Amino acid sequence: MHVIEADHLTKQFGSNTVLDAISLQVSAGEVFGYLGPNGAGKTTTVRLCLGLLQPTSGQVWIFGGDPGQNLPLRARLGVLLENSGLDERMTARDCLNYHARLYGMTDPGSRIDYLLDFVGLWDRRADRVGSFSTGMKRKLGIARAICHEPEVLFLDEPSAGLDPEGQKMIRELLLELAAAKRMTVFINSHNLSEVQRLCSRIAILNHGTIRAMGTIEELRQREGRPMLEIGLDPGSDAHEAGLELAAAGLVKHWEAGDHQLRAELNGHKSSDLVALLVQRGFPVAEVTNSARTLEEVYLSIVGEGGTQCDPQ
Ligand SMILES: Nc1ncnc2c1ncn2[C@@H]1O[C@H](COP(=O)(O)OP(=O)(O)OP(=O)(O)O)[C@@H](O)[C@H]1O
Ligand SMILES: [Mg+2]
Repeated sequence: MHVIEADHLTKQFGSNTVLDAISLQVSAGEVFGYLGPNGAGKTTTVRLCLGLLQPTSGQVWIFGGDPGQNLPLRARLGVLLENSGLDERMTARDCLNYHARLYGMTDPGSRIDYLLDFVGLWDRRADRVGSFSTGMKRKLGIARAICHEPEVLFLDEPSAGLDPEGQKMIRELLLELAAAKRMTVFINSHNLSEVQRLCSRIAILNHGTIRAMGTIEELRQREGRPMLEIGLDPGSDAHEAGLELAAAGLVKHWEAGDHQLRAELNGHKSSDLVALLVQRGFPVAEVTNSARTLEEVYLSIVGEGGTQCDPQ
C-alpha cells in the first residue's frame, strides 16, 4: 500500500480547473518533491491530501483512508503550510506545548526542548511568536510539524525565508527522519538545489497536470537533448562564440560564462560545433558532454514563461 495515493484528482474553483486528473503515489520513507510554477496547484494538492479541501472529482488516500472523512488519520500527519498559522500571541515554547497536547502527548517537555534547540530557537523560547522574523517563524513551524512524530510530513516551501544554515539544518533533519524513522515527506519547493539534494523522486506540475515524474536522474535522461560544455582559450569571448553558433543554426539554447560555453546540441555533431568555432577564430581548449541540470529539465518542461495566470 502506498502512503499517499492520488487517483485522477481534480479540483475546480468556479470555472478554473486548477488540478486536472492528477495521479501519483508516494511510498513509505520517500522524500517526494512537488515542483511547478506559481499558481500551478501545489498548495491545492497538499490541502486536498490533508482533507482541508474536497476534490471536485477523483480521490486521494493517505494510508488507504480518505483524509476528508477519517479524522484519526490526521493525527498521523505533520503539516507546514505556506502560511504557518502560528498563534502570534503565544511564546515559542507554549506554541509547541499546545500543539503537542492537542495531539495527545502527555509529557512533551523534553521533546519540545530538544526541538527548540535543534531549530536554533532555544534562546527565544520565551518570546512571543509575533516578535519573530520570517525565518524564525518558519523554523518554529517545522518544529511544530514534526513535534508529534508524524508518519507523513507535508511541507509547503519549508526553506522559504531560511538562511543557508537554516536550509542545511532542515535538509539534514528531513533526510534523517526519512532514513531513521521511515517518515514519508511530501515537499513543495521552488528551491531546486534543495530538491536535488533531498528528494528521491519528483513530480513537475504545470497547467493542472503532472508533466513529468520520476527520479531526478530519470528525468535528466528522459527530458531533452544532451548538453555540451565547450572550454575556449582565455581571451576568447564566449558570448560572441555562442552568437556565432546560434546564427549558424548549430545550437538553440546556450549560455556563456567567462571562457565557457554551455549549449544544447541541436541534432548536430559536437565536431561540427568545434569546426565552426575554430574556423571563426575561437580556439577550443576542451569539449565535454554533461548531464542536464535539474533547472534545465524543469525549464524545458514548464517553459521559461514564469508565472501562470488564471484563465479568465
Ligand atoms: N480558495 C481558492 N479559491 C479560488 N481559487 C483558488 C483558491 N485556492 C487556490 N486557488 C487558485 O488555484 C490556483 C493554484 O493555487 P496554488 O496555491 O495551489 O498554487 P501553488 O502551486 O501552490 O503556487 P505557489 O508556487 O505560488 O505557492 C491559483 O490559480 C489560485 O488562484
Ligand atoms: Mg503554494
